[in-house]
Amino acid sequence: MNPARHLVLVGPMGAGKTSIGRCLARHFRMAFVDSDQEIERRTGAGIPTIFECEGEGGFRARERDALAGILAGPDAVVATGGGVVLDPGNRALLAASGFVVHLQADVPAQVERLARDRSRPLLASGDREATLHRLATERGPLYTGIADLAFDTRHLSAADAARRLGALLESRWRRAPSGVQPEPAA
Ligand code: S3P
Repeated sequence: MNPARHLVLVGPMGAGKTSIGRCLARHFRMAFVDSDQEIERRTGAGIPTIFECEGEGGFRARERDALAGILAGPDAVVATGGGVVLDPGNRALLAASGFVVHLQADVPAQVERLARDRSRPLLASGDREATLHRLATERGPLYTGIADLAFDTRHLSAADAARRLGALLESRWRRAPSGVQPEPAA
């Protein structure tokens, strides 16, 4: 949505949501919140442990709560988890409270960027490439459905992507005034 208080990054694993989000937050002098880190902070456990103990369903419930809390909070650049768009309530909330940028990366780029990663439970077993293709097919239309802007991160470092995207957003995203009201004078 535009104007919006939050700048929200959605997209698949390995698209660069966290690293690009950090740079964008510096560019716009805003706070940065990563929803996976917020889930870990609230839970006191890492994402792989949450998946192991509570299954994907338990993780998704925590993800829903964390997202609602983040979007009700102060203006921020928000990096979301790749599966956040699976929940219709999350999609409605994101579309209603953030300028949503879909960071795009194709499967070859994801495979390369995630080659040494061991922190994503959905990629822990089976054929990574096949899993990433399946997720792209299932989730691609969901990202597209809520995005105000799509940005292709292939062939770009996080710093270069953030520089270009930051410049683009200067003309595309209208920042809404913060919902936080100043204290009335005594
Ligand atoms: C997931 C993506 C991860 C994390 C969890 C599930 C997904 O976040 O939320 O492992 O379903 O695609 P990133 O997109 O930041 O890797």
